[in-house]
Amino acid sequence: MANPLTIADLKSLAQRRVPKMFFDYADSGAWTESTYQANESDFAKIKLRQRVLVDMTNRTLETTMIGQKVSMPVALAPTGMTGMQHADGEMLAARAAEEFGVPFTLSTMSICSIEDVASVTTKPFWFQLYVMRDKDFVLNLINRAKAAKCSALVLTADLQILGQRHKDLRNGLSAPPKFTPKHIWQMATRPFWCLDMLQTKRRTFGNIVGHAKNVSDLSSLSSWTAEQFDPQLSWADVAWIKEQWGGPLIIKGICDVEDAKSAAETGADAIIVSNHGGRQLDGAPSSISMLEPIVDAVGHKIEVHLDGGIRSGQDVLKAIALGAKGTYIGRPFLYGLGAMGKEGVTLALNILRKEMDVTMALCGKRDIKDVNASILLGRQ
Ligand SMILES: Cc1cc2nc3c(=O)[nH]c(=O)nc-3n(C[C@H](O)[C@H](O)[C@H](O)COP(=O)(O)O)c2cc1C
Repeated sequence: MANPLTIADLKSLAQRRVPKMFFDYADSGAWTESTYQANESDFAKIKLRQRVLVDMTNRTLETTMIGQKVSMPVALAPTGMTGMQHADGEMLAARAAEEFGVPFTLSTMSICSIEDVASVTTKPFWFQLYVMRDKDFVLNLINRAKAAKCSALVLTADLQILGQRHKDLRNGLSAPPKFTPKHIWQMATRPFWCLDMLQTKRRTFGNIVGHAKNVSDLSSLSSWTAEQFDPQLSWADVAWIKEQWGGPLIIKGICDVEDAKSAAETGADAIIVSNHGGRQLDGAPSSISMLEPIVDAVGHKIEVHLDGGIRSGQDVLKAIALGAKGTYIGRPFLYGLGAMGKEGVTLALNILRKEMDVTMALCGKRDIKDVNASILLGRQ
């Protein structure tokens, strides 16, 4: 495919370039994957209003997320093991996001460390925190994010235990990959991926190995999660994290009105309506279906963002129309990265921007800040 035009094109290219275990890690949801699928398919149910003969000149997608300027309301979501989709993946994606003018969020479970990403960026990025049982380690992560001048902390609330993704278990997923005949075959059939990977030293969890007590080698995400993620994390801990961090705080993984109300009480700056891309509670509603009730309940108190299922600029626009102040993409940028490295991330962002811009114009709007439910059919 010489000229990828859609996120789906990037997905097929990534499948051809990335070893199966890592492609599957991105392209999977928990158990039956019903929530993963609903995240995407529920966007298609929302119809746009076609408006004509209105001035379409001087359009802009620029806005703010938590008060920070963005060239369009789309951030890169935190994703674990991004450096396994492509060598040095987090560093490449962070640079692409910086050049594009959108936030990059580094996962706790990244391959490149906070310091690696800071070393190749010139503007602040965001850091996503998983709270571990070992509070010294959590404090240390927060302090490292401060030292790297991260401009927001994204606290993930929906992964105190790990949802099961069958493909990861069947594939024996680990970072670095195991050297069994099956894994060697998966890598041998992806020579360009291997060549890039041979040239980097970053092949395991860069924020953890060498930083957490007694962790000099860590390969299995699931065993670390089972041992270390704090199942007792509660709303009371959010106050402690907010105090330790002292900067803008975003709570990620809210998919229920009652939880949104509790989150708004914490004094956080924003919440992300999210079900972790359908990777945690299979059977939970799609994020887009929960956006409006959550905005109605807490939108006057706290900025509401959304992720999950965005595969086009039209999807972003629909989320903005339903009250989101910003959105995040996970898989779309991972597919771009797997397919073409940094250029692929930029291409994914460009695809979304173009689709959003043209759709906004055809809905009769020129400024993303004026987009509201009036662009949706049956909502005017
Ligand atoms: C491969 C992969 C790894 C992820 N790892 C993390 C993570 O480390 N921390 C986190 O908060 N969310 C993680 N997520 C969830 C994303 O931040 C985001 O909620 C989700 O990808 C949004 O859905 P989308 O992929 O349909 O855009 C991950 C998602 C994927 C696809």
